[in-house]
Amino acid sequence: MKRIQIINGPNLNLLGKREPGVYGNQSFDDYYHQLQSVFPELELFYFQSNSEGAIIDKLHATGFSFDGIVLNAGAYTHTSIAIADAIRAITTPVVEVHISNVFSREEFRHHSWLSPVCRGCIAGFGLDSYRLAISSFIS
Ligand code: DQA
Repeated sequence: MKRIQIINGPNLNLLGKREPGVYGNQSFDDYYHQLQSVFPELELFYFQSNSEGAIIDKLHATGFSFDGIVLNAGAYTHTSIAIADAIRAITTPVVEVHISNVFSREEFRHHSWLSPVCRGCIAGFGLDSYRLAISSFIS
C-alpha cells in the first residue's frame, strides 16, 4: 500500500470555523474521514502544526520513506525558505495544496517559495484540492 502524508500548516486546525467564506464550513477531521473512504487503496496519514519547525521535522521524518506528501503550508508558503529547503532535501515528491485560489487573492499570496521545489500545485478547489493532489500519486 502506498503511504501518503498530508501536512497542514498554521491556522488550518481552525478549518470550519476560520473565515468560512474563504475556507468553507467543514472541519478537516470531518473531511479526512471522507478522504480515507475515497482512497481505500492508500494509507493516509495526517499531521497539522502551527509551527514551522514541526512542519520541517515531519517533512524530514516522512520524506525518505513515504510515497508522497501533500502539503498545505498555509501562510508559510509565502515566507518560508526553510520549508522550501526541507522539500529540496528530501526524496519523496511533495504536492503543494491551497484550499483557496491564492492567485485571485491579495498579491502577497501570489508568490510561493514552495512551488519551484514541489512536483506540482493545486489551488482553488476548496477541500477537494486535497483529493486532487492525492490522486496525482496514484498510477
Ligand atoms: C492557504 C492560502 C494561504 O495564503 C493562507 O495563508 C492559508 C491557507 C489555502 O489553503 O488557501 O493559511 O494555504
